[in-house]
Amino acid sequence: MESAEFIWMDGEYVPWDEAKVHCINHTMHYGGGAFEGIRFYKTAKGPAVFRLKEHMKRLLYSAGVMEMDCGYSVEDWVNMTVELIAKNKIKEGYVRPMIYLGYGKMGINPVGATVNCLNACWGWGSYLGHEAVDVAISKYMRIHPKTTVQDAKITGHYSNSILASLALKESGAHEALFLDYEGNVAEGPGENVFLVKEGVLKTPGPGCILPGLTRDAVMTIARDKGYEVQEETLTKEDFYEADEAFFTGTAAEITPFASLDGRKYGDGKPGPISSELKEAFMKVVKGEDPKYEHYLTYV
Ligand SMILES: Cc1ncc(COP(=O)(O)O)c(C=O)c1O
Repeated sequence: MESAEFIWMDGEYVPWDEAKVHCINHTMHYGGGAFEGIRFYKTAKGPAVFRLKEHMKRLLYSAGVMEMDCGYSVEDWVNMTVELIAKNKIKEGYVRPMIYLGYGKMGINPVGATVNCLNACWGWGSYLGHEAVDVAISKYMRIHPKTTVQDAKITGHYSNSILASLALKESGAHEALFLDYEGNVAEGPGENVFLVKEGVLKTPGPGCILPGLTRDAVMTIARDKGYEVQEETLTKEDFYEADEAFFTGTAAEITPFASLDGRKYGDGKPGPISSELKEAFMKVVKGEDPKYEHYLTYV
């Protein structure tokens, strides 16, 4: 991975190689950290962060679920991120803020543990690395909504995503797709999912997913373009029989499916509606569509 010059840690800029934590920290052992993944893009007016405020709202929401009070407001996190990107002089990349339980208390109950914060950025290109990806339904079920608080972005949730990613070697697919506890399609390990059928877009509704900010933006952009977008229960058969399907997420942006469980979509190349939405989305994030300027925070 790429690195940067500085990482922000608890109010100070620390050189990348010196940004260390004690190995007996609570979050590393039990997975109770809150974090975000945010992208910033090169635009004609300098780097622009996509949906920065909304990401920081979700960060504080997730921290609140874990009862971690970090002492910084959404505005503080927004301003700190802008400063961090400027200080590192990176034009395009990824931001990773985290609120975590630090050193000084062991045992699962975190009451009394220290709350620490960090914010890092670095250059990061394509996440899934292909124009269209082969997808396989995972043998693992998406975490049950009563197992945790599903719409919080908590580090421990990602053991589910890691296992699904490790199991990809069994199918040879590029990415996994989770079913929920009722056997309906939920989401990917780090992405939401849409299908296109006869010109209508459909995506699983909230309940068993992390309702992504990219998903939300794509629904808005698609509706503004005149597409009907439905949030509904979708089975794997709905996906097998769809005309197109694609992932959305900060890291994945819009990544069309080439196939699902070996069943190809068309000729395996990105379908027309996926391509149209991807092109429109990339214009938005690069500041080339004035209608969606409100999604961007300039550095
Ligand atoms: C499990 C999961 N679902 C969906 C998403 C997409 O969310 P967003 O578009 O806000 O990045 C992510 C990425 O954060 C994720 O990790």
